[in-house]
Amino acid sequence: MKRIFTTIVATVFLVCNVLADEGMWLPLLIGQRQADMQQNGMRISADDIYSVNHASLKDAVVLFGSGCTGEFVSGEGLLLTNHHCGYSYIVSHSTVEADYLTNGFWASDRQSELPCKGLTVTLLVYMKDVTDEVLKGVESTMSEQEREQVIERNIEQVKKEAVKNTHYTATIKPFYYGNQYFMYVNEVFRDVRLVGAPPSNIGKFGGDTDNWMWPRHTGDFSMFRVYAGKDNKPNDYSPDNVPYTPKKHLAINLKGVSEGDFTFVFGYPGTTKQFLTSDAVNFVQNMEDPLRIKMRTIRLDVYNRAMNNSAAQRLRYASKVASIANGWKKWQGEVKGLQRLGAVEQKQEREKQFAVWAAQTPERQKQYGGLLPEFQRVYAQSEDARLAFIYITEGLLASDLSQYAFRGIELARLSNDAANSDEELSKTANNLYNSLCKLFANDYDNHKQVDKEIFAKTMSVFYEDFGKQHYPWIGDMIAKSKFKDNPEAFFADIYEKSIFANDKSAKKIFEKYNRKNAKKIMADPVVAIIDGITKDHSENHAALVEQAAEKTDSLYRHYVAGIMEMNPQKDFFPDANLTLRVTYGKVKSFEPMDGVVYKPYTTIEGIMEKENPQIYDYVVEKKLKELYNKKDYGIYANKNGELPVAFIASNHTTGGNSGSPVLDADGNLVGINFDRNWEGTMSDIMYDPSRCRNISLDIRYCLFIIDKFAGAKHLVEEMTILK
Ligand code: ARG
Ligand code: ASP
Repeated sequence: MKRIFTTIVATVFLVCNVLADEGMWLPLLIGQRQADMQQNGMRISADDIYSVNHASLKDAVVLFGSGCTGEFVSGEGLLLTNHHCGYSYIVSHSTVEADYLTNGFWASDRQSELPCKGLTVTLLVYMKDVTDEVLKGVESTMSEQEREQVIERNIEQVKKEAVKNTHYTATIKPFYYGNQYFMYVNEVFRDVRLVGAPPSNIGKFGGDTDNWMWPRHTGDFSMFRVYAGKDNKPNDYSPDNVPYTPKKHLAINLKGVSEGDFTFVFGYPGTTKQFLTSDAVNFVQNMEDPLRIKMRTIRLDVYNRAMNNSAAQRLRYASKVASIANGWKKWQGEVKGLQRLGAVEQKQEREKQFAVWAAQTPERQKQYGGLLPEFQRVYAQSEDARLAFIYITEGLLASDLSQYAFRGIELARLSNDAANSDEELSKTANNLYNSLCKLFANDYDNHKQVDKEIFAKTMSVFYEDFGKQHYPWIGDMIAKSKFKDNPEAFFADIYEKSIFANDKSAKKIFEKYNRKNAKKIMADPVVAIIDGITKDHSENHAALVEQAAEKTDSLYRHYVAGIMEMNPQKDFFPDANLTLRVTYGKVKSFEPMDGVVYKPYTTIEGIMEKENPQIYDYVVEKKLKELYNKKDYGIYANKNGELPVAFIASNHTTGGNSGSPVLDADGNLVGINFDRNWEGTMSDIMYDPSRCRNISLDIRYCLFIIDKFAGAKHLVEEMTILK
């Protein structure tokens, strides 16, 4: 009986292993996944995905800027990524007269493409396992510090050697918390130009309301072109540069994919934390996320009220609110997802099993037996310090005024150092003053009201929840004021009194700056509070946070090695660390809640359903409506005659995967990844195949917009479209 049971368990395990969609695999080792990928429907080989001997798909995928992905779609350096990835570059070229962000931009020829200062595109030349070289000379008897020093020295040496006499750059990153190291040798392109972007009400259709949600109808794409010197090598911007010729560009499949079809995503996922212990998950789920959400809810309430007040304020806060709301909404999904999975309990159970396994032999006991209690000790000891850090980033830094107070403190510090010349100090003071003027210029009072409310509310929550206990001197200040029982009123009052909130006093102190003014800055009531808290933090908490992080890093190195030793049959993948990865899955519907099934794709019908001229996020362009009314979808319609907009699949993705190519079984482009579903955002910590989906823009909607909507057919003609 027991044997039969074991066989069943083994079979279930095997099946799960084949069907599991979890995993962000290293391109170099993708050969190890080939059988599983092919079994799930892939028709190409691992060698087509990653090769250093011939052009492969990896030559078409780039790190776009420092946190997104992009892909080449023409032999002349044409690049696709998300609208939200190109956002700041589109904004940087927009003026009131030529508002590309609102109205879209399409370069009619190469001369009209717009250089983007500071934007780089990084292309992987090859990657290599350098664990042995990096760990050379590392002894198990070494302290963590000694170990770090040896590793750092080795890394510098290996990188230097790798790029000698080339124009390449190299990075070496730890995997599995330093159990393994890989080197990435890259080409970094520095001349990247904006080619096209849809209007905001297509590229950001649904805005923050639809963000992280399915069903989705956002045309989240923008286009760039990479330029190089005449030798096809990276160059600084020059009018003489020519379009870069990639070794490989992606071909486009207009037939699309349907439920059950194999897909894979090739890109640069940023951060995941699959190995966190139960204590760490508990901290995220029950302390960190709720605290961040609470602080951001306060800010969003204030901003949203202001944005409903006037069009000017709506514009003023739009991009700020977008970024605050992005995390705010994701963390809510994450908490719910972790709760639903019973993530803490699952982790506790696994830890129990680990402890039992570790106790089985004296060697294991010696190597791994002490890890979990040590994790517990370090996490418990540093909990307050870690919370303080979150209170400071989400609370103390929430208002514009407190950020200026920080700059003021820095100026005062510089002023007390004789090594800094009067000219330098005046320059710093003038910069501070000028940007302060800009901040409060144009509807000065309204912004001040908004910012004051944010300051007063976040500071009083900070005080009530945390400050009272940790910074009793703030309580004394409040008690001595006339607002004894009302911290919020106290904070609003000191805001009003602050030099940073007063034109006249700011002008007096900063415009003609004298180092003696440092005293006046430090006497400012807001500065006094912020300075007190940050001093206290750096004396009592900051070091503890840092030590805890160092300690847990080394604990995780041993713990993860143990987990791998304990499960020799399991295929592990390293956490995301902004290196190139392959993840694969299938187009798949899902059940977000009891009684509801979400279909795996959306169409333009949904855009029309959502249309609401009164709500900014749901305004539909006139031209798009005309095309819809005529059903003029051309070659971009699916086999049912519908115009597909987005689809979901079970690819394991995270932040940084935005803009990643979504490829079909033959390695052809079918979509651009841009988001995940809200019910699946806990995937950064614990993946759930039944609920986690990546959201992609259907490439047919993207091309439809370029061709039919914008009339930029020349760009589509540049691409390789499979008929
Ligand atoms: N949630 C996506 C990501 O994490 C898209 C964010 C941009 N869109 C927005 N409405 N804020 O990057
Ligand atoms: N929207 C994310 C990004 O910008 C993708 C995600 O978190 O799934 O990378």
